[in-house]
Amino acid sequence: SITPLIMAGGAGTRLWPVSRDSMPKQFIQLLDDGLSTFQATLLRVKGEPFGRPIVVTNQEFRFVVAEQMQALGIAGEIVLEPERRDSAAAVAIGALLARRQDPAAVAVALAADHVILDAARFRADCTSAAALAATGLIMTLGIVPTAPSPAYGYIEPGAALGREGASRLSRFVEKPDEATARGYVGRGFLWNSGNFVFAAATMIEELERFAPEILAGAGAAIAAATVDLDFVRLDPAAFATIPKTSIDYAVMEKTEKAGVLAAGFDWSDIGAWDSLHAVAGKDAAGNVLQGPVVAVDSADSLLRSDDMLLTAIGVKDIVAIATRDAVLIAPKSEAGRVKALVEQLKRQG
Ligand code: GDD
Ligand code: MG
Repeated sequence: SITPLIMAGGAGTRLWPVSRDSMPKQFIQLLDDGLSTFQATLLRVKGEPFGRPIVVTNQEFRFVVAEQMQALGIAGEIVLEPERRDSAAAVAIGALLARRQDPAAVAVALAADHVILDAARFRADCTSAAALAATGLIMTLGIVPTAPSPAYGYIEPGAALGREGASRLSRFVEKPDEATARGYVGRGFLWNSGNFVFAAATMIEELERFAPEILAGAGAAIAAATVDLDFVRLDPAAFATIPKTSIDYAVMEKTEKAGVLAAGFDWSDIGAWDSLHAVAGKDAAGNVLQGPVVAVDSADSLLRSDDMLLTAIGVKDIVAIATRDAVLIAPKSEAGRVKALVEQLKRQG
């Protein structure tokens, strides 16, 4: 079976004021399905061909992770990082643990904060990628770009791999600037979805080659971990030696053992409020209304309130997000600037 490695320790600022450092977006219900994207991720990899999940998260999120897994009746290993070291550390930890369970383990590293609705096609693509991963390739799942966004990794497909939609990966470029990205889109590059399928042994070999400090720190943090009933607590001193970088920079830009499968499933990483509007269920006027919200003569807007009644008259193409202690109002087209807003708030204290 394929071992799910769920990377659930990131911080999300682009969905402020709902997503906070203390409760990032992967743990928040964004759609009307009553699930957080972390929970939807768990359900997507529940049952054959997937095995018991390994969840790597920050120790700060241990209770929300445990609760959200328990609510679904899903058991798995919950590994706690003492501090943020970005995704390369999480993948290294997961790959080492998966290989310890089974030297031939094939794993899928999953982002915990994406919306993918077509679970059947996702499963089929993972199965297909796993067959190629078993031959020693780190498989990416590629998405056809819709914009020259600098927020993504770009993949140049190479020689065909003799399986529908699959090819060698000839180049991986993480977060190029917009002008470079525009060129890539024109030349048929794909976006990296941020989900990877690989043999644990292959990922470990490539970490050894390109990021030996990360692998060594991860190995030492596991060797000196304390394990109780619920959690594996990585050793803080060993973990602190791990350089902070993402798996995209640490391995994917460098490895020559990568492939890409063009994903057949829908995909959104809900990078900003306007992308939630795009994927969420809408009323006849194109509004996404979440929580205690009433809108009159309004269209194509996202209105969301956690608590207080939020009302609108005659608005179009806006986002209005109300939480207990903060409100955000913006034209939908400006929603991508939330990250900069949050940075300004942090500077102002
Ligand atoms: N455990 C753990 N610890 N998980 C982490 C950490 C960490 O320190 N930092 C990030 N993660 C998790 C996030 O929660 C998320 O599920 C995943 O790793 C990816 O991290 P992001 O921070 O969201 O990465 P990104 O969106 O900037 O870029 C990645 O995803 C894009 C697609 O959404 C890259 O893989 C890009 O190449 C890709 O296009
Ligand atoms: Mg992301």
